[in-house]
Amino acid sequence: MLESIAKSRSLEALEALRVAYLGRKGRVTEQLKGVGALPTAERAAAGKAANELRIVVEAALAEREMVVREAEVKRTLATPFDVTAPGIVPLLGHRHPVSVVLDELVDLFWQMGYQVADGPEVETEWYNFEALLVGKDHPARDMQDTFYLSEAHLPRTHTSSVQIRHMEAHRDKLPIRIIAPGKVYRNEDEDARHSWSFYQLEGLVVDEGVTLGDLKGTLEQMMKGILGNDTKVRLRSNYFPYTEPSVEMDATCAICSGSGMLGDVSCHLCSGSGWLELGGAGMVHPQVLRNVGIDPDRYSGFAFGFGPERLAAIKYGVDDVREFWRPNFRFLEQF
Ligand code: DAH
Repeated sequence: MLESIAKSRSLEALEALRVAYLGRKGRVTEQLKGVGALPTAERAAAGKAANELRIVVEAALAEREMVVREAEVKRTLATPFDVTAPGIVPLLGHRHPVSVVLDELVDLFWQMGYQVADGPEVETEWYNFEALLVGKDHPARDMQDTFYLSEAHLPRTHTSSVQIRHMEAHRDKLPIRIIAPGKVYRNEDEDARHSWSFYQLEGLVVDEGVTLGDLKGTLEQMMKGILGNDTKVRLRSNYFPYTEPSVEMDATCAICSGSGMLGDVSCHLCSGSGWLELGGAGMVHPQVLRNVGIDPDRYSGFAFGFGPERLAAIKYGVDDVREFWRPNFRFLEQF
């Protein structure tokens, strides 16, 4: 046994010997097991001998293992190293496409003198709905299917709640000029353009003499910054309970530049209309200002809200917004 151990040249061979000697049916193990069957007078001596044999075999295996390992290291080090072999490129992290667009937006608004505001993702009905004039039975509650956490609490369905919180906290420190990026949640079925959770970017300005023209100019500045200098913005009449008048904002299509055509086929992004719907906006309703203790006879404001994912999808030509949140590195690494 000791000779075989001393001659073995690999870890695999040593392991095979260990099993053959010390394994459950190994030679040494069998010898140890056989002790019990011997006459009483012989047991003590035979037991002692078998145990000593086990110790010697174990030690021989351990010693040989060290020698074999050392030889293996020497062999590896002696192998020439190919400096021209292609390396393994480590996977580097980078910013998410939606974060890139959000950061650009924050930058653009900083330049226009805005500050970034924040609010909780779990809201009360007051901040998410009532202060914004969306009463219990208001049909607008159906427009935004709500998850409820309890009677009183819900994950916010839009970032418009931050308008109310910010105006309450700053009504004595006017003017207000903020944007509020953040996540919102809706009990909606998913498809290529909808998701149960997504980002919004809310904007709010309250000051003396703020007009719809200011709103349009601001939106135009922002869209040019994100989608390119040729981008035009159009406001269409719409309805939101918390703004009067309310508008829908469209921008000229980033792919066909507003013509609706790509060569002689109609543009797939805007379906040939030349315009992309981006979000809602309007002049803050006087009653909303009253709700937070701001005098609507002296102050006016505008507000807007839209989805940065949709903007990112338009900017990068992505057809399905769900791609942004899948763990698909091949997709995410392109940006
Ligand atoms: N909260 C609206 C939504 O989630 C978007 C919106 C519309 C925000 C008009 C506004 C606004 O601030 O004035 O669909």
